[in-house]
Amino acid sequence: MTVDMELEAVLRAPELEMPPYPPKVITLANSKKMVVRPIKREDVPTLLKVVRPTLDIPRDYYDIVGARLYAELLGWYRYRVRNEYCLIGQVDGFVVGMVNGRMWDQNIGISLHTLAIDRGLHVGAHLFASKMEYHIEHLGQQEVWITAESPIGFRRWMIEYGLIKQEGVQHELGGATSYKLTRDLYFETKPRLVAGVRPVPQELLDQAMQSILIASEAEVTEKICGVKGR
Ligand SMILES: CC(C)(COP(=O)(O)OP(=O)(O)OC[C@H]1O[C@@H](n2cnc3c(N)ncnc32)[C@H](O)[C@@H]1OP(=O)(O)O)[C@@H](O)C(=O)NCCC(=O)NCCS
Repeated sequence: MTVDMELEAVLRAPELEMPPYPPKVITLANSKKMVVRPIKREDVPTLLKVVRPTLDIPRDYYDIVGARLYAELLGWYRYRVRNEYCLIGQVDGFVVGMVNGRMWDQNIGISLHTLAIDRGLHVGAHLFASKMEYHIEHLGQQEVWITAESPIGFRRWMIEYGLIKQEGVQHELGGATSYKLTRDLYFETKPRLVAGVRPVPQELLDQAMQSILIASEAEVTEKICGVKGR
């Protein structure tokens, strides 16, 4: 595809400088080590392959979340979204979940989506906490705006963190009811909800950085819809 760079310069969303999220490691309930780290724009096509199967999974609202996440990641890849980032969780190199968000401006963070591929281990909860940590501690923001698209999400974010409902504010995800996490609320909930250790042992980090491994389409569906543990 030939790109008209002059026109591209007009179409591309402007971007703020964003310090990268420093990787960390979290020990999951099954004793496996999950490395949480940022991906680069050029990793997006790989990640899209693991999101794609969720488009056909209505269970627990994976379809709507997957479709929106897919569009957001593609938008980042194509330079059509401002100040976006994506963090992934990897176990043995394989993607087990991901989160994305963006900076509205220097002070306000927008939480976009959280998607757990491996379930029953709080992978999504840990990644969401990492996202809040990134906005507040590393991007130095004052608050993060959050909405929920599923009952599990509502329990995990609004209830667990005691998020503050924003009257008269629409979240950019379709104008849904918006809640916020303030700096104070973040530091209050941090000891209970934000896990992980830095630095990541070199061998573990090398394994994670070497390549982003993804489950097959059938495996993704099985992992999300499997009933083990229930
Ligand atoms: C919301 C989400 C990120 C939470 O991820 P998580 O913290 O890893 O939690 P899980 O989805 O694995 O589990 C949620 C609950 O259902 C149970 N569960 C659901 N499916 C399960 C499965 N296949 N195997 C085992 N447990 C399962 C878990 O035990 C857990 O119960 P608990 O709340 O008592 O711990 C994840 O459910 C998800 O990706 N959902 C679809 C997208 C979505 O809704 N995103 C958030 C938008 S607001």
